[in-house]
Amino acid sequence: LNQYTGITECYDLLMRGGYYDHDDMARAADSAIGHRKKVLELGVGTGLFAQSLAETKPDRDITGVDFTPSMLEIAQDRVGPDARLIEADVTSMDLEDTFDVAISSGGVWVIIDAEHEFLLGTHLLGYDNDVEGLTNVSAHLEPDGLLLLSIQEMHRDFDLMLPGGVVYSQRIFGTDQPDDHFMIEKKYRFTRGAEVLGKETLTLGFYRRKVMDRILGEAGFALKGIDDDGQFFVYSNRGKPATTSV
Ligand SMILES: C[S@@+](CC[C@H](N)C(=O)[O-])C[C@H]1O[C@@H](n2cnc3c(N)ncnc32)[C@H](O)[C@@H]1O
Repeated sequence: LNQYTGITECYDLLMRGGYYDHDDMARAADSAIGHRKKVLELGVGTGLFAQSLAETKPDRDITGVDFTPSMLEIAQDRVGPDARLIEADVTSMDLEDTFDVAISSGGVWVIIDAEHEFLLGTHLLGYDNDVEGLTNVSAHLEPDGLLLLSIQEMHRDFDLMLPGGVVYSQRIFGTDQPDDHFMIEKKYRFTRGAEVLGKETLTLGFYRRKVMDRILGEAGFALKGIDDDGQFFVYSNRGKPATTSV
């Protein structure tokens, strides 16, 4: 569930059409990361952000994980030796390595700027899954490591004309839920005339602020703040809190 197989071939066309500005996000991440060297990208996709980040400081050591093999194939061609790519699910990965920074830039987790509050957006399917995944991320970080989650707007319906006569349409279902945790279906569709070039339905989860803070806290992260460019929530890794024994 939530793999990007059905839209892999069209994904870069959409990104290049202005969905994300990877160079801009990489510049902001570069400032927030500073001198830290070993970076783990969570949901590296086709490697667009990883490539932009590698270009900001060529001596950085970048590893990207993703669980959609077809996305990783494109990433491999793109980043070549600039990044190590690993097929893995963030909830179960065991990379036998630790990193200075983990970053999800439009990846497995994002922060949604919903005007009046920030939400945690996720590709995972429930509270326990998110705690498990983020706890695993924490375990892959150095004790003084950082977690960066990119900030973006809430998903919405729109159509976009892309080069080559391709039309992208995005439709969202199930948004009107006031709960602390709610799910939406996000339908991607790429067409040229009557031909459907790619389609995928993702089930995405969202947590309101107090639950988001609880999940990240349980996983071992403390919020440091928003980066100077206003593009990332930056967390420090303080490890999992010791369980209190009675
Ligand atoms: C929107 S893409 C982002 C790609 C990239 N960060 C970018 O900026 O273009 C999200 C990626 O997260 C991956 N993903 C989603 N859930 C995952 C999981 N549980 N473990 C690993 N990767 C996951 C998907 O396969 C997809 O390639």
